[in-house]
Amino acid sequence: MKLFRRKTVASLQAEAASDQRLKRALGPMNLTALGIGAIIGAGIFVLTGQAAAKYAGPAIVLSFVLAGVACAFAGLCYAEFAAMIPISGSAYTYGYATLGELLAWIIGWDLILEYLFAASTVAVGWSGYVVSLLYDLNIHIPPALSAACGTHLIEVPTALAAVLKMKSGWVAMDPGLLNQIQAVGTDPSTLGQATALFNLPALIIIMLVTVLLVIGIKESASFNNLVVAIKLVVILAFIVVGIAYINPANWHPFVPAAEGPGHFGWGGVLRAAGVIFFAYIGFDSVSTAAQEAKKPQRDMPIGILTSLAICTVIYIVVSLVLTGVVSYTRLNVPAPIAVAVDSLGPSVSRWMGPVIKIGAIAGLSSVILVMMLGQPRIFYAMSKDGLLPPVFSAVHPRFRTPWLAQILTGVIAMLIAGVFPIDILGELVSIGTLLAFAIVCAGVFVLRFTDPGIHRPFRTPVFWLVCPLGVFFCGWLMFGLPLDTWLRLIVWMVIGLAIYFVYGHRHSKLHHGLMAKKAPESEGLSG
Ligand code: ALA
Repeated sequence: MKLFRRKTVASLQAEAASDQRLKRALGPMNLTALGIGAIIGAGIFVLTGQAAAKYAGPAIVLSFVLAGVACAFAGLCYAEFAAMIPISGSAYTYGYATLGELLAWIIGWDLILEYLFAASTVAVGWSGYVVSLLYDLNIHIPPALSAACGTHLIEVPTALAAVLKMKSGWVAMDPGLLNQIQAVGTDPSTLGQATALFNLPALIIIMLVTVLLVIGIKESASFNNLVVAIKLVVILAFIVVGIAYINPANWHPFVPAAEGPGHFGWGGVLRAAGVIFFAYIGFDSVSTAAQEAKKPQRDMPIGILTSLAICTVIYIVVSLVLTGVVSYTRLNVPAPIAVAVDSLGPSVSRWMGPVIKIGAIAGLSSVILVMMLGQPRIFYAMSKDGLLPPVFSAVHPRFRTPWLAQILTGVIAMLIAGVFPIDILGELVSIGTLLAFAIVCAGVFVLRFTDPGIHRPFRTPVFWLVCPLGVFFCGWLMFGLPLDTWLRLIVWMVIGLAIYFVYGHRHSKLHHGLMAKKAPESEGLSG
């Protein structure tokens, strides 16, 4: 079957060695920083508190362990592939070598949900923090320009925000928030209200990141190193200061009694693991920089696994401190770490409050940067294979970056960030990523049998157990996501398949190369 024609690993390795158009500038430190840059972001700064308050209680720590284990399986599989096939297409390329062209296309199209949509999602979160920080500094961004089109906003002054333990400024209006405002004796109709037209700060950050990424990979990595350092210092400061204020009584009961399916008890721990999975997304983006790594065979596994391990430890410790300094019942807020800081007393919260906001802004900036770095490199690989038009693989003569694909990624990310709300985007990112992880785990398993002799600089240990467990965990987390997210995924995939059959299938270089040689089997037909 033509649809399932595969590229051989040997041909991919030759391709990686011969294509020197992108600049090889990244070492193990840069790659690890890229991973941390992509991982620590909205997940820990926003979702952790809500997952603890609504689903797991202090046992959110166990949810982080659980999601971390699931990601470790996927991380090991990514490390094996990335060292063996160091090409910028990441899971798309691995799919081409193992499961055939159609599935490779499906993965490539699916990865847009992970990278491009994640950049938009996090840009919306970034905008929220920046607008709030500026508000505290008495710089007011017009509300009409500060959220997705049609979002109803309400103004929460700094004093009220302190009482409600939330960000000050213009925030999205929802019934829960209105109830909270009324509960503290304020009439919501006395507060400013507005309907947003578009999210200007989100557009601006995507534009700035796009310019940086067009200029150069080295410059982007240096900026990322700086931003990662800032967010790590801020998180470590929170841990070091917070430990002294832990009240062990807050950890009892560690697993609160179940109050319904998915609400506390062990079911809640599992549900929370699905929610905070978002916090781990990003370690795989290291693999998209494979063609810009100096020694990809050695450094890809280092970058992927070290960044994942560091972030797992940080997440577990942060969630222990967070639930230790405040009762989990108070954490159902958009800025849970700020709530914990406030509980440390005015002498600490005065300086640490703004520091946490700066850390969150830095954290989210680097997630946007690395996600926006990953997307054009996947387009680049797909375009070089003929599945996308040549414009996607144009490399800038001076900067040696895939600049046209980068600009196009930026423009689409801006449109999405301006139009869609953050929750819909976040769930799409999670389901798309889980699908990619599951396919990568399956791919490593398949290739061990179809191509056992190939040189593997890094081998997934006990692959016969790790790969199936990776597929199982990812599939299980996917099934925890709501039905409408599944429907959106299906619609997205149908659009992707239409594009494949109209364009990719006809222009596939593998297909044309095979027809010219009249020797289809030579490229490893599997179907
Ligand atoms: N892991 C990234 C975040 O939490 C996507 O923002």
